[in-house]
Amino acid sequence: MFLMIPTLLMGLVDFAVAFLVIYGLWRMSSPVTAAAGISVAGVGMLAAVMASFLVVFTVSDAARPHLLVNSALALSALIIGGGAAWWAGRKVAMTAMPQMVALYNGMGGGAAAAIAAVALFGAHAQGVTALTVTLVGALIGTLSLSGSLVAWAKLGGLLNAPLRLKGLQLINAIVMLGTVALGAYIVFLLQGGATPLTAVSGLIGLFFIGALLFGVLMTLPIGGADMPVVISIYNAFTGLAVGLEGFVLQAPALMIAGMLVGAAGIALTALMAKAMNRSVVHVLFSHFGDSAKPKHGAETRPLKVTSPGDAGTAMRYAASVIIVPGYGLAVAQAQQKLYEFVKLLQAAGVGVRFAVHPVAGRMPGQMDVLLAEAGVPYDMIFQLEDINAEFANTDMVLVIGANDVVNPSARADKSSPIYGMPILNADQAKQVYVVKRGQGKGYAGIANPLFYADNCDMVYGDALAVMSGMVEAVKGLGLSAAS
Ligand code: TAP
Repeated sequence: MFLMIPTLLMGLVDFAVAFLVIYGLWRMSSPVTAAAGISVAGVGMLAAVMASFLVVFTVSDAARPHLLVNSALALSALIIGGGAAWWAGRKVAMTAMPQMVALYNGMGGGAAAAIAAVALFGAHAQGVTALTVTLVGALIGTLSLSGSLVAWAKLGGLLNAPLRLKGLQLINAIVMLGTVALGAYIVFLLQGGATPLTAVSGLIGLFFIGALLFGVLMTLPIGGADMPVVISIYNAFTGLAVGLEGFVLQAPALMIAGMLVGAAGIALTALMAKAMNRSVVHVLFSHFGDSAKPKHGAETRPLKVTSPGDAGTAMRYAASVIIVPGYGLAVAQAQQKLYEFVKLLQAAGVGVRFAVHPVAGRMPGQMDVLLAEAGVPYDMIFQLEDINAEFANTDMVLVIGANDVVNPSARADKSSPIYGMPILNADQAKQVYVVKRGQGKGYAGIANPLFYADNCDMVYGDALAVMSGMVEAVKGLGLSAAS
C-alpha cells in the first residue's frame, strides 16, 4: 500500500537533497573532512533515489504521464546495481580506482541516455524545447558512455596503442555534425506530433549509434597520460546530461545533482589541465602521452646505485628531508612503512615534509588519501606551489615510486612531450634518493634525466621492501620512533 506524497513534501526532499550534495561537496574540499563529505553526499544521493522511487509508486500515470511505472524492474535494478557497486567498491585495489571511476562515469552517461531514449520512444518529450533538451542530453550522455568505456579499457591496459588514422579528425567532425544534424531533423519531425513516432524510430536509433561512435572515435586517439583529464571531461558531460534529462522529467533532484556533478567536473577538468599546463582543447586534439611514439630521450649513461640501508642512514643525519610520493607507493602499499621511517627521522631531529604533485599517482588526491591512510598529519603534507621553492634549501629528497612528477625535462627540454608541465623541483636538493624497482618508465613513457644527475642515487627494489630496509637501518643506529 503506497502513500500519497504531497507536492510540498517532495519539494522539501529536493531541497534536502540539494543541501546534502552541496554540503558534501564542500566538505570534500579538504582531506580532513573529505571522508565525512562523501558520506553526506552519499546520503543525499540515497535520499534522491528513495524520493524518485516513492514518486514512481505514489503518483498516478495520469498525474505524471512521463514516468514509467515498473516497480519490479526498478527494484531489481536498484538491488543488482547497488549490490554490484558495493561489492566492487570494497574489492577494488587502490591502483585500479581510475578505471572504476571511468566505468561508473560511463554508467551515469548511459543512464542519462536511457532516460532520454525512454522519453523519446515513449513520446514523453513533446514540443521543440523538451525534444531539443532530450536530444542534447542523449547526445552528451551517450558519447560520455562510449568514451568512458574506451577510457576504462585504456586505463585497465585492455587498449594500449592510441588509434592513429589519417584524416581521423575529419571523420570525427563528419560523425559529430551528422549526428547533430540528425538530432535537429528528429526534433523537426516530432514537434507538434506531426509525424508518428514509428516513422522516426529508425532515425532515433541511428542518432544513438552516431553518438556512441563519436565517443569512441574521440577517445581512441588520446594517449594514456591524458586520461585523467578526459575522464573528468566525461564526468562533466555525464552530470550535464543527467541535469538536462532531469529538466525533461521535471525532477528537481536529478537537475540539481546533475548540474552539481557537471559543474564539479568542469572545475576538476580546469584544475587538472592547469596542473599539467595544458589546455583542454590540446588534450582532446593533440597526442600527449602517446605510447605509440618512440620513447623520448633514451639514456645510456650509468646510474649510481645505493642500498636502502645507506640511504636511510644518510637521511637520519640530514637536517631536512622532503618526501615525494608517486604511483609506485600506491602499487607497493608502502605508506605505513614510509611513515614509520618518517617517525624515526623525526625522533632523530630531522625536519621532514611531504611534497604532493597534483597529478601524482593515477587519480586526483590519490597521494593525499594514501598518506592520510597511514596517519601522516596534514600539516606535514604540502602541495606543489607551497613547497617547490623549498627544495633548493633542502638536504635530501626521497622520491618514492614517483617519476614523471619529478622529471626536469618538463622544465628544460622543449622537445619533451611533458614540456611545460609543472614538476616538483626535487633535482634542486643537495641529494636525491629515488626508490623504484628498475628501469621502468613513468606513465608518460619517457626517460628521466634526474636519475642520471650527480646528486641522485637510485635505491632499487619494491618500495615496501626498500622502506623496511631503511627502517631497519635507522633502528640499528639505536633510535626509537616518536610516538
Ligand atoms: P609515474 O610517472 O607513473 O612513475 C611511477 C614509478 O613508480 C615508475 O617509474 C615505476 O618504476 C615505479 N614503481 C612502480 N611500482 C613500484 C613499486 N612497487 N615499488 C617502487 N616503485 C614502483 O608516477 P608519478 O610520478 O606519480 O606520475 C603520475 C603520472 O601518471 C603522470 O604522468 C600523470 O600525468 C599520470 N596520471 C595521473 C593521474 C592523476 S589524476 N593523478 C591519472 C592518470 C595518469 P619501476 O617500474 O622501475 O619500478
